[in-house]
Amino acid sequence: MIEARGLTRTYRTRGAFTGERTVHALRSVDFILPKGGAVSFIGESGCGKTTLGKILTGIETFDGGELLIDGTEVSKLPPRKRAPYFRRIQMIHQDPYSALNPTRTIDQILGDPLRMRARATGAGSSGVRGRAAELLELVGLEPDGVLPKYPHQLSGGQRQRVVIARALTVDPEVLIADEAVSMIDVSLRLGILALLHDLRTRLGISLVFITHDVATARYIGAGGELHVIYRGQVIERGPTDDIIQAPVHPYTQCLLSAVPIMRGREEPGPDRLEPLAPLDEKAPADGCLFAPRCPFADEGCSAARPALEQLGNTGQHHACFHPAPRRVVGVEIQPAGV
Ligand SMILES: Nc1ncnc2c1ncn2[C@@H]1O[C@H](COP(=O)(O)OP(=O)(O)O)[C@@H](O)[C@H]1O
Ligand SMILES: [Mg+2]
Repeated sequence: MIEARGLTRTYRTRGAFTGERTVHALRSVDFILPKGGAVSFIGESGCGKTTLGKILTGIETFDGGELLIDGTEVSKLPPRKRAPYFRRIQMIHQDPYSALNPTRTIDQILGDPLRMRARATGAGSSGVRGRAAELLELVGLEPDGVLPKYPHQLSGGQRQRVVIARALTVDPEVLIADEAVSMIDVSLRLGILALLHDLRTRLGISLVFITHDVATARYIGAGGELHVIYRGQVIERGPTDDIIQAPVHPYTQCLLSAVPIMRGREEPGPDRLEPLAPLDEKAPADGCLFAPRCPFADEGCSAARPALEQLGNTGQHHACFHPAPRRVVGVEIQPAGV
């Protein structure tokens, strides 16, 4: 459905104090999203997750690589021909509060895109209200109660369900969920994740799931590929369960550990990660991007940047000169609380 080959996005910014800076938001990201499949991306804040989501929905451009939607390289198309491709890919943002216009009722919020679509297909607008009710039921809301309400009269979880229903008005084939549950009350998260999973299995909608949270990625990404992204580079990827059970990249190991304390190394050394330095402030020009924070880094790690390679015959890939299954003390990955 979607294939990204070497997707790259570099920002050049000019600040009063920082001067000109180059931010490598994405560095040659490759992935394939099969029809009805799921691909997840996990990484800390600032690693490029939202940039990726925006590129996949056509809101943001990229400056290197290729993006194929159903086999068509979309960036080569003129803008008008691009639109129908991107319409099939809808994004669900992090913040259900700002995503909905506060002055409009849910009826209007769902009715507008449905009417536009009905007009475009010549179907007439008589079925619009029925379809709005259908979509609300699909996302687990009771139509009669919800349709006349304004967004502020709903809970965060209900609001995110409305956002999802609105994305469904255009019959998308792919949903991009960018931190879709991180601003929702913990007790309501599992319901939203279960809904996304349900849409995938029942309607065959493919899912790109973007998160900084391991438990969330594990729940929703089961059966799909997980990509661990660090400063714009995918540093480990493979079947979600394999990566979560036996990561070989030190960054993934740290990420999976609730308390980043590492054991099992031969020499004594720092057993805590330094807080993430501002992007590109300390990123080595040539070496491994993670080397400045890595307890296992040696001189070789600062001299060259490791590329993704396969781990033996497994489905796992890593970009590390010293990959090893290490026991990370303090790991607690619980599906609960998602
Ligand atoms: N429009 C932009 N102009 C300049 N820098 C940007 C822009 N958008 C994102 N960035 C930078 O790109 C990096 C990745 O950002 P983002 O994709 O939002 O990360 P994430 O979603 O993982 O937190 C950050 O360093 C961010 O500051
Ligand atoms: Mg983000």
